[in-house]
Amino acid sequence: MKVGVPKETAAGERRVALVPEVISRLVKAGHSVVVESGAGLAAGFADADYTKAGATMGDPWTGDVVCKVQKPDAGEIGRLRSGVALVGTFFVATDALLVQQLASRQVTTFSLELLPRITRAQTMDVLSSQATVAGYKAALIAAEAANRFFPMLVTAAGTLPPAKALVLGAGVAGLQAIGTLRRLGAVVSAFDVRAVVKEQVESLGATFVAMEQPVEGEGAGGYAKELSADQHARELEFLARTVQDKDVVITTAQIPGKPAPRLLSTAAVDGMKPGSVIVDLAAESGGNCEVTRAGERVVHGGVVVLGPVNLPASMPLHASQMYAKNMQNFLQLIVKDGALVVDLGDEIVQGTCVTHEGKVLRS
Ligand code: NAI
Repeated sequence: MKVGVPKETAAGERRVALVPEVISRLVKAGHSVVVESGAGLAAGFADADYTKAGATMGDPWTGDVVCKVQKPDAGEIGRLRSGVALVGTFFVATDALLVQQLASRQVTTFSLELLPRITRAQTMDVLSSQATVAGYKAALIAAEAANRFFPMLVTAAGTLPPAKALVLGAGVAGLQAIGTLRRLGAVVSAFDVRAVVKEQVESLGATFVAMEQPVEGEGAGGYAKELSADQHARELEFLARTVQDKDVVITTAQIPGKPAPRLLSTAAVDGMKPGSVIVDLAAESGGNCEVTRAGERVVHGGVVVLGPVNLPASMPLHASQMYAKNMQNFLQLIVKDGALVVDLGDEIVQGTCVTHEGKVLRS
């Protein structure tokens, strides 16, 4: 099986789908890998690292399987050969046109954001690996934007209390943000509508803040579900009170297939201290905070509201290493004895296969 690795073309994207270490494993397993020149440079891998790992530099679109991070652009779609398999994170739920185009080019497309959150799929779980990067980076961004130290400092010039941080949404990114904020010395609390995360939050040394009258936010597959209007109103009111004394708020809440839930109203931001910082990791899907603008820094009544986009691309070495490992594990599922095998009876294959043999299977 020939595997192709193009250079990512999306603006600001610095990750690469496969790194040399993973390629050497694929080569040992009997595959050939063709990498586009410069594909790994922004992630820290020179062409020579790839050739040393056993890849050849050349046209990745000649591969039987093409491994990508982001969706193919118009030019790349035009280069996809009939019958090729395309694997990446294409966020197809919001791009029906792309799915249609890939089907009509007879491409077999696997979009890994659709992986079921089951134990067997954990090693392929790109959402988790990339959310780990985003959560970590969010804490660093908050520290950088803050007007204060995070740890408590006892100095000859006085004693400085630690920063008070709140993390909203304690999924993969939220838990990583909590761990990083703690390592930086902040006093951390967290909130989530899924009560099961309380133990995980506490195991990281943070406090779980609970609503007086808890809401029912546990949905299917371990994910959160949308709250009723009444529950949501109570959550907004509770969070507006909870953020008042916080120096840092990191929001990470998502509901699969829906815009990000609104957690902080403009009024809640009005109630925060000037100089405090909000980092909204849901900026790309509409924002958890009403004030957030994706990709921008907004200062509202002295509160700094940051809406960073594509944080994994800002730490491309480790983000690519983890992504590539996920990809390698997924390839083991769809390549058998050197040939592409699309077993739609397999829950993971069925969950991620978006187009096959000219048909749209899911979007
Ligand atoms: P996510 O990115 O979908 O959402 C982030 C967090 O926001 C979640 O914890 C969610 O409960 C929370 N949230 C949603 N609406 C909220 C609201 N209105 N207020 C406050 N918080 C809200 O979640 P992620 O990180 O993708 O994880 C989802 C679940 O999948 C978790 O239970 C995680 O443990 C599980 N998981 C399972 C895996 C496996 O077994 N293969 C791998 C990774 C995650």
